[in-house]
Amino acid sequence: MKNIGVSIIGSGSAIPKVFLDNQQLSQIVDTSDEWISSRTGISQRRLADTTESLCSLATQASLAAIGQANITAQDIDLIILATSTPDDLFGTASKIQGELGATKAVAFDLTAACSGFVFGLVTAAQFIRNGVYQNVLLIGADILSRWVDWEDRTTCVLFGDGAGAVVLQASESDRLLGFELRSDGSQNGCLNLSYQPQAKEIIEGVNVSQGTYQPISMNGKEVYRFAVQKVPEVIEKALFRANLDVEKVDWLLLHQANKRIIDAVANRLKIPSEKVISNLSNYGNTSAASIPLALDEAVRKGKVKSGDIIAASGFGAGLTWGAIIFEWSGIKLSQK
Ligand code: COA
Repeated sequence: MKNIGVSIIGSGSAIPKVFLDNQQLSQIVDTSDEWISSRTGISQRRLADTTESLCSLATQASLAAIGQANITAQDIDLIILATSTPDDLFGTASKIQGELGATKAVAFDLTAACSGFVFGLVTAAQFIRNGVYQNVLLIGADILSRWVDWEDRTTCVLFGDGAGAVVLQASESDRLLGFELRSDGSQNGCLNLSYQPQAKEIIEGVNVSQGTYQPISMNGKEVYRFAVQKVPEVIEKALFRANLDVEKVDWLLLHQANKRIIDAVANRLKIPSEKVISNLSNYGNTSAASIPLALDEAVRKGKVKSGDIIAASGFGAGLTWGAIIFEWSGIKLSQK
């Protein structure tokens, strides 16, 4: 059987209208622009209001990606929505499918926190490689502001909302060059948005759990240590699988969590700052959206060009982390 390759042929993104800068945050909690900027590199973040939903942001990002890929919604075979903050715990991907009118597509949610987009790319690629699907829409979207404790200065300064999407397509040449995915559940307690059970007796002797999800809790120092150690390792492994030296990487595209993490990883890999894509300052940590959002901005600014090699890495709750090396295609292959 002929090998089927995978190419990423379009990107799109969407951000909420409202933004909140560090100065405004310092009116809510005991913090300062100086503290947030120097420790994280974040200046402002976008926040979804009640007129915006995960579905609306994701749909907007998807339409832009489909447009850039020069296909129609009816061409899509599969939609994967990477998110930890669906509008509906039963899943939001199908609603997006309905909004897009992607009548042929099957849709499902995938949850891997801030690694969701990278895990989603690898998942999407398998369906293309095995010949089942031709066009896959992958969305990374999160509205973490719903789940942030706005009185906790150790977490509320970090997060923001947004959505990004890409279209993957079967192609003769393979442009997804290598990947590595990892999880370590023994460190699960480092970063959580967890369900807190509360007993409710529905009839004598029968208790069910009717609790609520608790706001994001995090051991910042542990997460920082984990990211700085594990992300370079996983990128090196993915490069090894791609049979590429680090010098061949045109762009380092990390999950946008913290400028210090991005700088430390780039330093460890000896990747110069000119090759690092970062828009963290404007959006904060948008979880599963951060990589496709930064990618889309770089593509639309003409920074990332067809043929560029990108090393992308996501990391976060789970703990989960992963890297993928791909060559940006960005055009409909049949038109080449
Ligand atoms: N404003 C002002 N002061 C703050 C603050 C804020 N927003 N948040 C914490 N502080 C204070 C702490 O209370 C502490 O005060 P103390 O020394 O009087 O106890 C001091 O600043 C230092 O706190 P610490 O937690 O040691 O800071 P840090 O240098 O580790 O930086 C993070 C905190 C969160 C920026 C850093 O740990 C980090 O980036 N971790 C990774 C987080 C991440 O990326 N998570 C998502 C991964 S997907």
